[in-house]
Amino acid sequence: MPDLFDELQRAIEAEPLDTEEAIDRFRIRYLSRKQGRITELLKQIPTVAPEERKAFGQRVNRLKKLVEARIEAARERLRRSRTVARPEIDLTLPGRRPLPGSTHPLTQTLEDIKRVFTSYGFSIAEGPEIEDDWHNFTALNFPPDHPARDMQDTFFLEPPEREHGGILLRTHTSPVQIRIMESEPPPYRVIVPGRVYRNEAISYKSYCLFHQVEGLCVDEGVTLGDLKQILHAFARALFGEDVKMRFRPSFFPFTEPSAEVDIWWPDPALPNGGKWLEILGCGMVDPNVFEAVGVDPERYTGYAFGMGIERIAMLRYDIGDIRTFYENDVRFLAQF
Ligand code: PHE
Repeated sequence: MPDLFDELQRAIEAEPLDTEEAIDRFRIRYLSRKQGRITELLKQIPTVAPEERKAFGQRVNRLKKLVEARIEAARERLRRSRTVARPEIDLTLPGRRPLPGSTHPLTQTLEDIKRVFTSYGFSIAEGPEIEDDWHNFTALNFPPDHPARDMQDTFFLEPPEREHGGILLRTHTSPVQIRIMESEPPPYRVIVPGRVYRNEAISYKSYCLFHQVEGLCVDEGVTLGDLKQILHAFARALFGEDVKMRFRPSFFPFTEPSAEVDIWWPDPALPNGGKWLEILGCGMVDPNVFEAVGVDPERYTGYAFGMGIERIAMLRYDIGDIRTFYENDVRFLAQF
């Protein structure tokens, strides 16, 4: 025969007490003075045979405690769920606008530059921003008294008087040409993006750091014509199919001959209807540079170029002040 107490206990434990009303009904069913089931059992105690009375009484009391504990716990649970209850959703509030980020204009420009050159079979390399004199100057055929080696132009970490000629923040990406040619034999067909540093007065057109993309192509039979062809393709891709460009003779210690490349910038407000703007430096790798890195200048020829990414981004997006690239002003950045 199922034990009455066990059955009651199971019923008490199974009752889902999730509303105030359910708790009240539960309390009345078990504890009400008139017909509560526990109350009735308590009333029976005096009628139980004396030898069973104590055990009976203890079991009734245990059930009573269980009922009380369940009521107490259920009330506590309800109270807590009320205090964390969310306020009702107000559908009349204006929505919150998402603020998506955008790619920095320098990054966009660099990505476009990379796309052009990788499509012509160039790979991408990088080099250290902290350089020694050998890679930044000497191996690139800078004479010992060249003005760029002056403290005025270069940030030195260790002064140039030391025997290794000083440790410095690279002033251009050209030292990576040296590192590439030192590390493996030709051919090379590579571009090198990176940050460079110059100790210059800060203004709307120059900053103490900026970014360059270096290019290096060395193989048997590489000519000045190849250089012109690739740079023309580059200018068309970045500035449009009908871009006008010119090669203007120039000088760099590490290229011979050397040139600077200008593009024609139409501007109806100017007397000539526009002006020439310099976008990069370039030339054929000087044989002295090949000698410094152990590449045979009788067998190999090559070209190199270097461009400032800021300069190109300023032209493309009509940005008037180089400093805006580094200020992280969202009002500026959100325009791109
Ligand atoms: N390194 C040169 C500069 O910073 C640019 C350059 C690179 C010129 C490669 C020729 C060849 O001005």
